[in-house]
Amino acid sequence: MKGSINVIVWSIETKPVMNPTNPNSIFHYRSWTGRKPSLFYDLLIYVKFCMVVGPLFHMGWYHLFYQYNPVSPVWGNITWGHAVSRDLIHWLYLPLAMVPDHRFDWNGVWTGSATLLPDGGIIMLYTGISDNYVQVQNLAYPANLSDPLLLNWVKYKDNPVIVPPPGVGLEDFRDPTTAWHAGDGKWRVAIGSKINTTGIILVYQTTNFINYEPLDGIMHEVRGTGIWECVDFYPVSTTDISGLDTSFNGPDIKHVLKASLFDEMKDYYALGTYHPNNNTWMPDNPELDVGIGLRVDYGKYYASKTFYDQNKQRRILWAWIGETDSENDDLLKGWASVQTIPRTVVYDKKTRTNILQWPVEEVEKLRLKCIEFNGVELGPGSIVPLNISSATQLDITATFEVDKEALEGTLEGDVGYNCSTTGAVVRGTLGPFGLLVIADDSLSEFTPVYFYISKDIDGTYKTFFCSDEMRSSKASDVNKNVYGGLVPVLDGEKLSMRILVDHSIVESFAQGGRTVITSRIYPTKAIYGAARAFLFNNATGVSVTTSLTIWEMDSADIQQFPFESDDVMLL
Ligand SMILES: *[C@@H]1O[C@H](CO)[C@@H](O)[C@H](O)[C@H]1NC(C)=O
Ligand SMILES: *[C@@H]1O[C@H](CO)[C@@H](O)[C@H](O)[C@H]1NC(C)=O
Ligand SMILES: *[C@@H]1O[C@H](CO)[C@@H](O)[C@H](O)[C@H]1NC(C)=O
Ligand SMILES: *[C@@H]1O[C@H](CO)[C@@H](O)[C@H](O)[C@H]1NC(C)=O
Ligand SMILES: *[C@@H]1O[C@H](CO)[C@@H](O)[C@H](O)[C@H]1NC(C)=O
Ligand SMILES: *[C@@H]1O[C@H](CO)[C@@H](O)[C@H](O)[C@H]1NC(C)=O
Ligand SMILES: *[C@@H]1O[C@H](CO)[C@@H](O)[C@H](O)[C@H]1NC(C)=O
Repeated sequence: MKGSINVIVWSIETKPVMNPTNPNSIFHYRSWTGRKPSLFYDLLIYVKFCMVVGPLFHMGWYHLFYQYNPVSPVWGNITWGHAVSRDLIHWLYLPLAMVPDHRFDWNGVWTGSATLLPDGGIIMLYTGISDNYVQVQNLAYPANLSDPLLLNWVKYKDNPVIVPPPGVGLEDFRDPTTAWHAGDGKWRVAIGSKINTTGIILVYQTTNFINYEPLDGIMHEVRGTGIWECVDFYPVSTTDISGLDTSFNGPDIKHVLKASLFDEMKDYYALGTYHPNNNTWMPDNPELDVGIGLRVDYGKYYASKTFYDQNKQRRILWAWIGETDSENDDLLKGWASVQTIPRTVVYDKKTRTNILQWPVEEVEKLRLKCIEFNGVELGPGSIVPLNISSATQLDITATFEVDKEALEGTLEGDVGYNCSTTGAVVRGTLGPFGLLVIADDSLSEFTPVYFYISKDIDGTYKTFFCSDEMRSSKASDVNKNVYGGLVPVLDGEKLSMRILVDHSIVESFAQGGRTVITSRIYPTKAIYGAARAFLFNNATGVSVTTSLTIWEMDSADIQQFPFESDDVMLL
């Protein structure tokens, strides 16, 4: 496929919006959505399913591979799209990295992971859907390691290297993880599966990535969670904020185990301890095990994957934001799905019960004009417009202080609350309060991102962090949800949130990234120059004082790699 994507290039800023009811995101990564002037593909619509696969950093470039259908707006014919970036923000599209062209991946080149070897080699293990629809694991590697762009990939000739073991369904065995070194000279790779309705992970060991031996037993399982896809398994330091290479283990380490639950289309994780000697992983809190406890992101978010960025000693998390509009709209706009802004992942040393996710620092390069609002008083029932000239591309940080006397004076408030019971529309004693983003002047469309406190008669509080899409769009053929979950708030902490607003995507982070929500919305009125932002407090029983900083955000530069151009300014 090399060089076959020789295409018309336009910058995202000037790209016509094909369907005005679906404003494009501007600083989130989308696949190239133009038309490929080739005999076979002309006039077809390109859709990407931005499910990240095998991310890595090599010779100065971040490589993003993703599940991509080059010929049709529905899932199918899955290939590996490929893009590179110097900074995780501005992207250059490259030719497809791998396409279905062998019996062992005839029906799709599905998700996989990269493993960087100590000698500089790169191993890519991926799931191929074979000619007879069996999910098999295949080995591939770069044709030329000296090529910073890693344009060409070689599939090992005797693939597959792992086939479904006895007792596991032929279509229930996928998404190999990055391999880790177990300290005995061998590498281990985990693969998600299920037995009946129990989600499981199986681990294989290898020395050469060609021959594999299954390890006894099941590394971890949780009943009733269905098949585990896109399993991710990595260490986090309990003392240091640097990320850790996937093979790292020792004292002061926890291991995060994450699974994407296909039955629910949600990503769950848990913190626990890994014992390489018997290849077991035990959750810190069995009540918050994988699939029944913490979500990576409570919104429209799936199939996340991390990689260790050896360039900046950090672990980076990416995921796929799917669409919730109609397939017809996706056809009209010619694409589907975006990538989250990459997030760093660290252990939360304060709570010791969760990870913290935070947008990579590079996103701050897109910050333009900054406006600050200090000590804005929000009485019960108030709405305050924020004076910003443009409200479609924003990075907002805000803190909220709840009137202490009123809070303490409240005997009981909304004990049974959770984000989805009422959303933002119903007023409670201690919430909701927060921001309305992607709103129009008349508030005919808006998306509240807010806190809501509930208080029990025994004096204990719970704080919820929610994003309510129910009034985000006048369009009726889009799926709208109230998303969110609990967020731990420690004694003496102010409530804080950060929101990245990008036309149709709202990524919201509470308490430094303890709870995160991604919303995918399709405003029809609150678009471009008509979009506004407001502060609001719809609690009946408390006043809230808020301070916030709002940056208008520049657009990311996302275009075709200039293979035939002398202009190397970009590089
Ligand atoms: C897969 O590609 C073939 C050949 O281009 C096309 O006929 C078919 O409709 C595609 N299927 C899907 C689901 O995209
Ligand atoms: C490998 O890539 C490097 C850097 O792009 C290039 O100079 C070299 O010619 C390539 N080698 C082969 C065998 O293609
Ligand atoms: C799976 O379900 C079948 C049918 O209910 C049952 O016979 C079998 O024992 C179950 N297998 C396991 C491993 O639980
Ligand atoms: C695995 O090994 C660890 C440490 O040696 C031990 O604490 C744990 O109980 C073992 N787990 C199982 C299931 O044997
Ligand atoms: C918002 O802008 C209007 C008009 O420019 C101005 O009158 C008002 O004082 C501003 N409000 C704030 C809170 O800055
Ligand atoms: C929220 O509350 C509703 C109604 O009480 C309940 O059905 C639902 O399961 C709850 N959701 C969560 C996430 O707890
Ligand atoms: C505040 O509450 C009122 C009454 O329930 C409701 O009509 C209004 O939409 C709420 N405001 C927001 C921003 O949700």
